[in-house]
Amino acid sequence: MLQVQNVQKSFGQFMVISDVSFSVTKNEVVALLGPNGAGKTTMVNLISGHLRPDSGKILLDDRDITTAPAHVRIALGIARNFQITQLFEELSVLDNVRNCIFSKEGRSGRFFKPAGAYRGEKSGAMSVLETFNLAQFASDPASALSEGDKKILDTAMAFALNAKFLLLDEPTSGVATSDKFKVMDTIISAIQKQGTATLIIEHDMDIVEEYTDRVMVLAEGRILADGASSEVMENKEVKETLFGVSD
Ligand SMILES: Nc1ncnc2c1ncn2[C@@H]1O[C@H](COP(=O)(O)OP(=O)(O)O)[C@@H](O)[C@H]1O
Ligand SMILES: [Mg+2]
Repeated sequence: MLQVQNVQKSFGQFMVISDVSFSVTKNEVVALLGPNGAGKTTMVNLISGHLRPDSGKILLDDRDITTAPAHVRIALGIARNFQITQLFEELSVLDNVRNCIFSKEGRSGRFFKPAGAYRGEKSGAMSVLETFNLAQFASDPASALSEGDKKILDTAMAFALNAKFLLLDEPTSGVATSDKFKVMDTIISAIQKQGTATLIIEHDMDIVEEYTDRVMVLAEGRILADGASSEVMENKEVKETLFGVSD
């Protein structure tokens, strides 16, 4: 599905990613962990096409997409959420999802036409809202949603792009701890229904252990560990890097 091969990325003199390789196969939900500033969001941007690596390759289904622009990658099946939610607060929940679908279809020039002009996308957008338990809010403005539901909508919009490969950068950031599991239950059950390969960045270890098959740890520009979460979390170097403890 997705292969990252010896990718390197610097910002000026500052090398954030020095040599990263990994692959994600169909149906896998993989967590990417690492300290603040480790380069996790940079890695998401490299895969989504918002940044280009200095060297190395990125392949989707064996096709080299290393230099493909973001909109081409979306068309090929890579979708991402945004860590800082990019909702149109005044638009309805349904129209936020429909806009996302229009823009994939290359109709973003018509973004602000009355949504009723595009009946085709309505059923698709509604079914995404149903999958994410947001259908009852379809005609409410996005601004009326709780923070947890806004984060679910943010992920639902990425999901509406019908991706083969989904990038979720901190999908529960800003969600109250008590709501995190509800948000993740909704997101993960939608992903599993579709069999979408997913790379998820998450800090909360309870969430990581509950919802992901595999964990990779990014530190000092490299993948420090990659494997089943139970094994990776026992690794001494990983504990030191993530929690600052060595016992
Ligand atoms: N566009 C950019 N220009 C310069 N430095 C950047 C840019 N994006 C990220 N960085 C730097 O790269 C490092 C990794 O950032 P980031 O990928 O956001 O880390 P993480 O998501 O793991 O917290 C940070 O030190 C950050 O300041
Ligand atoms: Mg980040």
